[in-house]
Amino acid sequence: MTRLGVILSGRGSNFLAIADNIASGKLKAEIAIVISNCGDAPGVATAKLRGFKTAVLPSKGRKREEHDRAMLAALREADVDLVILAGYMRLLSPWFIQQFPGKILNIHPSLLPAFPGLEAQKQALEYGVQVTGCTVHIVDEHLDHGPILLQKAVPVLPTDDEHTLADRILAQEHRAYSEAIALVTEGNYRIVGRRVLLDQGNAQEKSSF
Ligand code: GRF
Repeated sequence: MTRLGVILSGRGSNFLAIADNIASGKLKAEIAIVISNCGDAPGVATAKLRGFKTAVLPSKGRKREEHDRAMLAALREADVDLVILAGYMRLLSPWFIQQFPGKILNIHPSLLPAFPGLEAQKQALEYGVQVTGCTVHIVDEHLDHGPILLQKAVPVLPTDDEHTLADRILAQEHRAYSEAIALVTEGNYRIVGRRVLLDQGNAQEKSSF
């Protein structure tokens, strides 16, 4: 069974959606550890309540690679195969990314390459796009950039403000992340250039979340 190491900085709703899909048996994986760089992150409290192993590794005032080394040690100790960034509000060092080649995933609340970085929903609203969404991608050394595993489109409604739009995107994020994890754990895909090419079986599996 694939062992997930979840890294988060805040609310943790994506983590919770993944944990729920695992608990209900829809997603075949296990959460080996939840790591946060913020001790007061609600996601850590939720993880503790659910009985998961947690580690709080404060990043403030620490050099990026020094902090990443501490995270790597915790992930290795928990025997993690796949790293799941779920609202981790800090860049990873290239060194860390090299420790898990192709095995670090991130979710972003826009259809990349549109609106990378902070406040993607606000950026989409201000730009005036009529469709936005979310993207799960493999992490490379650039921000919100690596090969795309899965995207879900979400309409922008005339009545939307950034909060209603963010909520509608978040509902899709909660499905998309588990689908993407299932793709990676099943492993039936090839990466050609930036393209993630799925085989037929996987394309059907995806619809279960
Ligand atoms: C999500 O919108 C995700 O796309 C972005 O950070 C937010 C995390 O939300 N990377 P949560 O902590 O999972 O609720």
